[in-house]
Amino acid sequence: MSATASGTVAAEAGTPAAPQPLLSVTDLQIELVTDNGVVRAVDGVSFEIHRGETVTIIGESGSGKSTTAMGVLRLLPDDLAVLSGSVRVQGHDVIADPRAAAKVRGRAVSLVPQDPMTALSPVHSVGAQLLEVVRLRRPGLDRAAARSRAVDLLTQVRIPEPERRLRAYPHQLSGGMLQRVLIAMALAGEPSLIVADEPTSALDVTVQAGILDLLLELQAGTGVGILMITHDLGVARVVSDRIHVMRDGRFVESGTAEQIVGAPVEDYTRSLLSAVPSLGPWDGAPAAGGSPAPHAAAKGDPA
Ligand SMILES: Nc1ncnc2c1ncn2[C@@H]1O[C@H](COP(=O)(O)OP(=O)(O)OP(=O)(O)O)[C@@H](O)[C@H]1O
Ligand SMILES: [Mg+2]
Repeated sequence: MSATASGTVAAEAGTPAAPQPLLSVTDLQIELVTDNGVVRAVDGVSFEIHRGETVTIIGESGSGKSTTAMGVLRLLPDDLAVLSGSVRVQGHDVIADPRAAAKVRGRAVSLVPQDPMTALSPVHSVGAQLLEVVRLRRPGLDRAAARSRAVDLLTQVRIPEPERRLRAYPHQLSGGMLQRVLIAMALAGEPSLIVADEPTSALDVTVQAGILDLLLELQAGTGVGILMITHDLGVARVVSDRIHVMRDGRFVESGTAEQIVGAPVEDYTRSLLSAVPSLGPWDGAPAAGGSPAPHAAAKGDPA
């Protein structure tokens, strides 16, 4: 391994290097083996996420967003997906070394899935499922300590009466509550990076805003990096430090949330913007005063 290939090596050598990104993706290509032949779903994307940052990939259905996210997590089956390029999670290249991927997944990096209604088993209590994850992440904990950790996690995601919720079954909780449980599960390994693939698209708008607020609040408290996947520019505008606009497996435009939403350069980005219903002042014009719905402020806006 060369010194330039790893921030860790540079750090060990005492070089006052810039902080190592939580995630560094370089020229990622992903080919999927389908019944109709090989599809290049991701065609050479590069991006970085640093501590405390939210980077969003936005694009139409089929543009390759989820494939990118699943590639970063190394959750695509080896016989159906061919990956090249490099994906470094805290310096470990999960493409060159699939074992590194298994090691970082759930610890350095966690997934918040799209549909909270189907992500949990309907036949086990919320507590049983959360405790399983807690014990997987901290095998040394005894029963009482694991339970107390589970209560702490539910408290962290602002679930009231956490002891009672542990005994509940998924069908007894609302979609927003279930998504909070899934975020708690993602937090169990104290990840430095969360990958959230459309985490609010199955929820209604007011609940959406609460979940986005929660993610930003957790980020402010812990410095966790977030890779956000969405097709919704309203969501992207609210949470993002940087946005990459994806089309046919490539990034066609990248910039800050203000640049992409306020002054898009590409026609494709403009067409995404025009597809956003009238949700707030970013719809057609950059935010300037007023009270946008459904969410109050974009990331970095003064409180
Ligand atoms: N399991 C699969 N079998 C065949 N093709 C697939 C499969 N999954 C994805 N693809 C193809 O890969 C490309 C990228 O799909 P991907 O799911 O990453 O898009 P996406 O941007 O996440 O879309 P969506 O917004 O609908 O979730 C598409 O052309 C899609 O048809
Ligand atoms: Mg998707």
